[in-house]
Amino acid sequence: MAEMRLPRYRSYFVNDPKLINLVLKERPSDFPKSELISASLASLLGRGVFVSNGALWESQRRIIDPAFEGGRLRHSFHAIQQAALDATTRITPNQIVDVEAQSSLIAADIIFRTLFSIPISNQIAADTYRDFKTYQRVQPLMNLGVLLGMRRIIPWVQSRKAKKAGRAIRHHLRHLTDLRRQQIEKNTAPDDLATKIMTTPDPETGACFSPEDMVDQVAIFFLAGHETSASALSWALYLLALDPECQERVYAEVSKAATGDRLEFSELSNLAYTRNVFKETLRLYPPVPMMVRETSAPEILRERAVKVGSQVVLSPWHLHRHERLWDRPDEFDPDRWDNAETKRCARDAYMPFSNGPRVCPGAGFAMIEGVVLLYWLVKTFEIQQADDVPPIPVAHLTVRSKDGIRLRFIPRR
Ligand code: HEM
Repeated sequence: MAEMRLPRYRSYFVNDPKLINLVLKERPSDFPKSELISASLASLLGRGVFVSNGALWESQRRIIDPAFEGGRLRHSFHAIQQAALDATTRITPNQIVDVEAQSSLIAADIIFRTLFSIPISNQIAADTYRDFKTYQRVQPLMNLGVLLGMRRIIPWVQSRKAKKAGRAIRHHLRHLTDLRRQQIEKNTAPDDLATKIMTTPDPETGACFSPEDMVDQVAIFFLAGHETSASALSWALYLLALDPECQERVYAEVSKAATGDRLEFSELSNLAYTRNVFKETLRLYPPVPMMVRETSAPEILRERAVKVGSQVVLSPWHLHRHERLWDRPDEFDPDRWDNAETKRCARDAYMPFSNGPRVCPGAGFAMIEGVVLLYWLVKTFEIQQADDVPPIPVAHLTVRSKDGIRLRFIPRR
């Protein structure tokens, strides 16, 4: 644990599995989401599930979670597969491809298809995506400055631009949710995530999301579900390009995984090695590099007195590369996921989707998405490094590369 003493508060960087379990699993309500982080996201997320706490958050999860249950994921699977197929036709073969930009587009396409049954080529989807890119550029969300108590390092003009982009995104999303509400009333709504979430009442109170609540939630699905998946896909493709032997094993697996032209949901179980590649990518490059909580009461952490309102920073990045917990932590080794020792270690030291009650509701969805995308991309292309310059990971909202990731996609036949 490291302590940072700042003029206005203290920040504690915690990397001990016992303490992480305390914060995320044993006493999560004593360590709510940090107000500092929530405030910087308010213009986009309103009171959405990512930033809310207490009874409001509990009710939101009771409505959202059923949409992501195992059985429902079958519905999303077909939309994900269609987006993956379209992606294979969009990538320019044999040329240098900026993989992060491509992955971002693919992941945004998947979110629109699974939430609203529209592809990214739809005008509102394209406008939302454009404004979202502006928002990301001007709003360095997980900015270290926030944690270090230097909020003013975000210039005023920049934060005004972020607010404007946040409002524009919400305007598009409101339009989409209004349209969907009308379709639900007329019984013509498609059976997708938006319909499921808008028509599910909280089993305890009987209340459904109001139109404004729904905009808050859709904004977070878009933010949390698209940036993260895009980051994971970019790093997975980079790791495969670095390791041709591993890539050939994935290719061998995908070549015999499906009996027909398309992959069936039930055939996902034939892709165990591809899944291991994705899991190992999430270990080495966890898309959410850190999570921030706040103490709601005085605490003693590793024999240190911690005051109310202190920031507690948890870092999947550091935990996943902890030398005392992992064997060869910096090595890319998908096979490690087949041994019992890794599985035991992962219980306490692997949290790409967080842990405890606030665990990512989209985790199951994201694992299917990652495997399906690797299935189609590796089946269609041999992925090669385009230059020898290794990408430098940096923590933005998600783990991105400082100067991009450039790869070549060579058609297999
Ligand atoms: C590889 C992909 C993904 C990763 C690595 C990821 C990771 C995470 C992590 C670490 C958190 C906890 C953040 C915190 O507590 O500060 C989180 C929360 C969340 N994620 Fe994901 N996520 C992914 C994909 C998705 C998808 C596809 C969706 C939805 C479509 C989604 C929706 C959410 C939501 C709504 C929350 C807030 C949950 C709460 O606070 O109760 N995520 N995610």
